[in-house]
Amino acid sequence: MVGDENNNKSNRQYIVAILFGVIIFLIIIIPTTILLVKNLSEKNNPTHIHYTRVNKNIYREHYELYQLNILSKRNPGQQYKLLGDFLRRSLFNASNYERYLPNCPIMFSLTSIDHPEDWRAMIFGTLKYPSPQLPHPYVCFISVLSEDRQHRLGSVLLNHFINHVMKANKYVYIQLHANYENCRAQRLYHACGFLCNEFKLNGYPEPHDPQYKFGHMIRMELNIQNIKNKTDVCSNPKAIEISQQEKDKYEKLCQTNKPTGLLQPCQNITS
Ligand SMILES: *[C@@H]1O[C@H](CO)[C@@H](O)[C@H](O)[C@H]1NC(C)=O
Ligand SMILES: *[C@@H]1O[C@H](CO)[C@@H](O)[C@H](O)[C@H]1NC(C)=O
Repeated sequence: MVGDENNNKSNRQYIVAILFGVIIFLIIIIPTTILLVKNLSEKNNPTHIHYTRVNKNIYREHYELYQLNILSKRNPGQQYKLLGDFLRRSLFNASNYERYLPNCPIMFSLTSIDHPEDWRAMIFGTLKYPSPQLPHPYVCFISVLSEDRQHRLGSVLLNHFINHVMKANKYVYIQLHANYENCRAQRLYHACGFLCNEFKLNGYPEPHDPQYKFGHMIRMELNIQNIKNKTDVCSNPKAIEISQQEKDKYEKLCQTNKPTGLLQPCQNITS
């Protein structure tokens, strides 16, 4: 009889111990395993960017336009690294673009047909850059891979960013910066209606893009009210109308702070 009671007791203890073990397993081991597997798969699958096709257009017969959104809960550091790598490949290898990209959440890419991840050209912008010097919607970066240049992809992207800002229906200006010697970029911006309104000697931090002799910077600004046809802002000269008075005002601002005698590498673009 006594032996039976002892047996029952140790059986009960045994069951309790097993139950306890199972509970611990459920509470600790399973979630840990799920977390580990999830982290591992995220490391191996860094494409946590959401792609939205903007329209059904095929651009220049080879490209589709997507809006990109970083899925911020997952692994934004990894995404910014990928985007930074793209900018280093297409713009300037030595720059730490990751520092700026989180402030530029509006992203559009032109990609190979049916391959949204195969970025060929990109624009990064924002409606409000966190800096008192940049109170207007701002284009942070625009870049086209060298093998995809000469198709005017930059103007497709910039036109689309301008349309995106116009849709909000509450902004008047869009701003951006360019290297003073980057005539290719300035020609594009000018075609879209941007005018220089500030010159900054050595405005780009060292090291600046070595294809330019200096790091002088200009700021350019688009007055959205000058846009007459928003579907071809950057490709049809008639889509933009700027009064002579406004041009003169901008020209004066652009010359302020520019040392006299400085070379004028991009003189013809404003004619
Ligand atoms: C950056 O470096 C890579 C690898 O060294 C090179 O293939 C690429 O052309 C460089 N890009 C620029 C813009 O200099
Ligand atoms: C704007 O430009 C597009 C494309 O060139 C053209 O089809 C359209 O007729 C233009 N709209 C106006 C109001 O001029």
